[in-house]
Amino acid sequence: MKNYLSVTDIDSLPSWVDEAIELKKHPKAHKGLGENKTIVLLFFNNSLRTRLSTQKAALNLGMEVIVMNFGSEGWTLEFTDGTVMDQGKSEHVKEAAQVVSQYCDVIGIRAFANLQDKEADEAELVINGFKKHATVPILNMESSVGHPLQALADAITLAENNNKSKPKVVLSWAPHPKALPHAVANSFVEMMHLQDVDFVITHPKGYELNSKITKGATIEHDQNKALENADFVYVKNWSSYQIYGQILHQDKNWTMTLDKLGTAKFMHCLPVRRNVIVADAVLDSNQSLVIEQANNRTFAAQIALKKILENL
Ligand code: CP
Repeated sequence: MKNYLSVTDIDSLPSWVDEAIELKKHPKAHKGLGENKTIVLLFFNNSLRTRLSTQKAALNLGMEVIVMNFGSEGWTLEFTDGTVMDQGKSEHVKEAAQVVSQYCDVIGIRAFANLQDKEADEAELVINGFKKHATVPILNMESSVGHPLQALADAITLAENNNKSKPKVVLSWAPHPKALPHAVANSFVEMMHLQDVDFVITHPKGYELNSKITKGATIEHDQNKALENADFVYVKNWSSYQIYGQILHQDKNWTMTLDKLGTAKFMHCLPVRRNVIVADAVLDSNQSLVIEQANNRTFAAQIALKKILENL
């Protein structure tokens, strides 16, 4: 595998999940693989889990790690070809990507959607700009439209906690005071397409995700109906896709509670706003898998990096 940019870069999900679970038992088993190799992690946005778990994964593989908060410390980048750069942008991605490539063997990039311009977000200017001009592989640490490392960690967590041949998995929208991107929800939907699960998406009308991504999935606007007999409930906020980046409403009736959850396991990518997205009682219960999801971020990153290193 050259790059890990999307869930679709996974050639065999069952073998990746099995291998990740094996890595979890023996994290340093492949410490020689990354010897004399360096990863540079470029953060255009904040992070707790991605930043630490990806570093941990690289260290487990024996790599050197360099981290840069590009969003606050780097030069502002131009992405359009042929621009007369006489305004605010200081450096073109053509040079930046080639320069970073001189210092490392893999580049990890986090660059969120700005939620102002759907076309620009879907063009994935940052990650595609680096992919085009870098001379080393790219690892997606959450881009405008996808968060494939999170989705892989979620698949590992599901595999570890599932005891049914075809579990029911529900992705439920929840309210949030800030407009959030669609990346986590998109990649989770793509990941569910790769699984043998009874998958239902539930959200208020107006919060439909990109229909190209949800194609084939069941969408139920009645949250209670969607949650019936659920085994796993993945809760996430996202802003409107149709009225791009807007908060249409923050209906508190969609907050996840123990009553609604029933006997299902609760999942969320974190960070999570308590008693807005989900009640304390859910997060503090033994039905919550959120800490295990965060733990599995290390092994998701480690399996993705291992595949990249094996192909160098
Ligand atoms: N889930 C996730 O990506 O967390 P961070 O934003 O803290 O990295």
